[in-house]
Amino acid sequence: MDQAVLILIKPDGLKKSLTGNILTRLSETKLEIVAAKMVRVSKSLAEEHYKHLKDKPFFPEIIHYLQGDLHDRKKVMALVYWGPDAITKCRDLAGSTNPEEAEATSIRGSYGRITTSGVYENVVHVSSNVPEAEREIKLWFNPDEIIVDLYGTKTVAQKECATKVWADK
Ligand code: TYD
Repeated sequence: MDQAVLILIKPDGLKKSLTGNILTRLSETKLEIVAAKMVRVSKSLAEEHYKHLKDKPFFPEIIHYLQGDLHDRKKVMALVYWGPDAITKCRDLAGSTNPEEAEATSIRGSYGRITTSGVYENVVHVSSNVPEAEREIKLWFNPDEIIVDLYGTKTVAQKECATKVWADK
């Protein structure tokens, strides 16, 4: 069954110059990349992304982590992969949440670490199931940033909406 999955290369992955390695590993899945962009993560986006962990003691730290405060890299790379069993394939490649428990050859096993304060810096995010993938993809992307039609859309007319455009256009 074709599925879509949100992948984030987190600030530690970018700081360690792992983008190429991670994309190469993900290409083993033979899935299609249907959206990709760099994102400067606001506090509200990070909090919405991790809202299922709101009550955990490590919540404030993972918000700082996703925003790049711990790595002086205030950006993440967000991608949508699409194809048969995309979620399982990408989660298998990513490995367990805890990098020390992740299989050594997985992305997190290879490149992740646990900080002295106990945060799992595990380099990538991969959606955990179909409803979460839909919620996350809709949170990180607008419909016209994705090159296939994944979910229902509607067209709305926007009045007096200021948009930044190139100065010479
Ligand atoms: P979670 O959504 O449970 O895992 P996953 O990213 O594998 O779906 O956790 C979100 C992030 O929170 C995780 O990538 C790393 C961090 N985290 C910790 O730092 N400590 C923890 O004990 C857990 C469970 C997660």
